[in-house]
Amino acid sequence: MKIAVIGTGYVGLVTGVALAEIGHDVTCIDVDRNKIAELNQGIPTIYEPGLGEMMLRNQNANRLFFTDQHAKGLDGVEVIYIAVGTPQRADGSANLQYVEQAARDIAETLRDSVIVVIKSTVPVGTNHHIKEIINANVAPGIRVRIASNPEFLREGSALRDTFKGDRIVVGTEDPETGNILEQVYKPFGIPIVKTDISSSEMIKYASNAFLATKISFINEIANLCEKLGADVEEVAKGMGLDHRIGTAFLKAGIGYGGSCFPKDTNALVQLAGNHHHDFNLLKSVIEVNNHQQRMLIEKLITRFESLAGKRVAVLGLAFKPNTDDLRESPALVIIPKLVDLGADVICYDPIAANQGTRWISAPAVYTKNILKALSGADCAIIITDWPDIKRMEPDTYARLMASPIVFDGRNCYSISDVKQAQIEYYSVGRPSVIPETIH
Ligand code: UDX
Repeated sequence: MKIAVIGTGYVGLVTGVALAEIGHDVTCIDVDRNKIAELNQGIPTIYEPGLGEMMLRNQNANRLFFTDQHAKGLDGVEVIYIAVGTPQRADGSANLQYVEQAARDIAETLRDSVIVVIKSTVPVGTNHHIKEIINANVAPGIRVRIASNPEFLREGSALRDTFKGDRIVVGTEDPETGNILEQVYKPFGIPIVKTDISSSEMIKYASNAFLATKISFINEIANLCEKLGADVEEVAKGMGLDHRIGTAFLKAGIGYGGSCFPKDTNALVQLAGNHHHDFNLLKSVIEVNNHQQRMLIEKLITRFESLAGKRVAVLGLAFKPNTDDLRESPALVIIPKLVDLGADVICYDPIAANQGTRWISAPAVYTKNILKALSGADCAIIITDWPDIKRMEPDTYARLMASPIVFDGRNCYSISDVKQAQIEYYSVGRPSVIPETIH
């Protein structure tokens, strides 16, 4: 099938590459000429394991093209995906200006009837609004059918999620459109949930809100475990074995970040409010998460009389491992606060180190060398559970640091391993480890 994807951000690029990989003829369109130039040279504009190779393979097979010209990209296509960003406005609602612009660009360029699929995360009701924009601007006689097809992929495992996802959700106004999209996706062999447009839009928000709720719930349990002397990892394991609860998304830590959970939970609260529904549960989820990000700093302040002049090693900048994305990362809250408190901050991240100065204006040093970050440090704070941090022997802290005091925001080490090393260790929802010699 001949397909166009508008927007080569995270979702758009992964979608375009994956659709080409299963045999479709795909053109990705973006107004950013520099991005298109890079993509045309076979250089992926996002960090995602495996994406570069797959992209190049499909470009070389003449199934995947990139252009900044709508007329060229939309010529003769049967399906158009809108995958542009819906950033958060100051009031928490979703900013739809890029989706609306994409709709106008499509309407002005179209010469044949098509299906327009909205992949961007948009509030319930947006698909109908976009259809109105297209119909108001399209040439007479051209039929545009609309479909909602939310994206559930995670950064860092986007290709695996696309090819091995749990479900594909397709919301349409008529069964024929649903059947065509079913054909598009058939090669993936993933169950397809066909529903109406509003329910499809809601499935995306409800899914992300539910996962965020699970995280904030276990984080609250973790905070309570600390007070009561229980171990949240044991609690999560015991809870998760109940198949009604499940083990996923019960990892306590310093809270969720990234481009989706914070934005989508805020947007759902806002959307509910617009319809006179006070979504109290979700408001608490957001509040718990905000507190969780600040919690490590509170522990640090309790432990040290003053951080002035102390050398603090921050391990991990990205909001989670296997991505270079710092959006809504706890690092953005924690690093400026440490600098504020007078600490001398050195940050390590294996992939995102060179993004530090772009995102954080407070003075700090950034390195891709973990040993350099830890050498001579008075304390270390783990923000991201990168595999190399998890693999590190806990006694490395004792060997390299001036005083081996570790605040682990991601529970990277087992308490029994930590007890073997001579380090002072504070994690989330688990007993602290304070070696005898330090007492
Ligand atoms: C998420 C959704 O999972 C995905 O379906 C949606 O399309 C986009 O948003 P993503 O933001 O890439 O994906 O990351 P995810 O792996 O879901 O993690 C989100 C955040 O939650 C990370 O900061 C992670 O560290 C945190 N998290 C996750 C926890 O703190 N505990 C957990 O148990 C799971």
